[in-house]
Amino acid sequence: MTNTNPIGFFDSGVGGISIWNEVNTLLPNESSIYLADSANAPYGPKGKDKIIALSIKNTELLLEHHCKLIVVACNTATTNAIDHLRATYDVPFIGIEPAIKPAALQTVTNAVGILATEGTLSSELFYKTSALFASDVSVVEQIGTGLVELIEAGKIDTEEMEMLLKKYTAPMIKANIDHLVLGCSHYPYLIPKLRALLPESVKIIDSGEAVARQTKAILTKNGLLNTEEEKAEHSFYTNTNAHLLQGFLNDDHIAAKLDF
Ligand code: SIN
Repeated sequence: MTNTNPIGFFDSGVGGISIWNEVNTLLPNESSIYLADSANAPYGPKGKDKIIALSIKNTELLLEHHCKLIVVACNTATTNAIDHLRATYDVPFIGIEPAIKPAALQTVTNAVGILATEGTLSSELFYKTSALFASDVSVVEQIGTGLVELIEAGKIDTEEMEMLLKKYTAPMIKANIDHLVLGCSHYPYLIPKLRALLPESVKIIDSGEAVARQTKAILTKNGLLNTEEEKAEHSFYTNTNAHLLQGFLNDDHIAAKLDF
């Protein structure tokens, strides 16, 4: 059995491209449609109801394009809206949750850091995951205020970014963390900068590979894998500036503007 329909992805902007890259590496046969809802970024400070409404809007557009599975490539949308999406629509949804469990299991200093949005850190899902897996560990939580805005504006290599990251990592270094969990799909773009700020012994964990493995497992389980030999097709849409999204794609792919 084969299913050639695309996989749908949505994020509050360009961050989910870090997830798309991992999924595409593991599943090169699969076509895809990516929605960067940059007009509404950041989702992090928005309330749960608003995040659910935006997630519904994105999902319905992906379903109009016949997506067979949807990757919610945004931690804030996952932690606030995925239960609602799963209860409302028939397609499988894959979300990204902050990798607090592996960090808590592997820590030796008994201290781990998490950098995420306000929406993720205040969510019930994050609270429950921390309580279940990290209750014996000191978790240094840090809201990454301003980071998504700078990434969305293409301002990664700026002094402003350096200053924010220095401020956000200082309490973690002081607490002697040995794992830093990236709880936002935008943040993998900051790994080189974080690497330079953190002691070498600190392991940085993001969730991209785990999402890709889970996507493959769910497609396989539901008989939805594309087993055809044809070349996969990919569409990347943004509701703001296509040039900005293009900056996060390689030359084989073209970003386009779409009103949604
Ligand atoms: C945001 O839009 O605030 C960040 C997206 C995320 O949580 O992954």
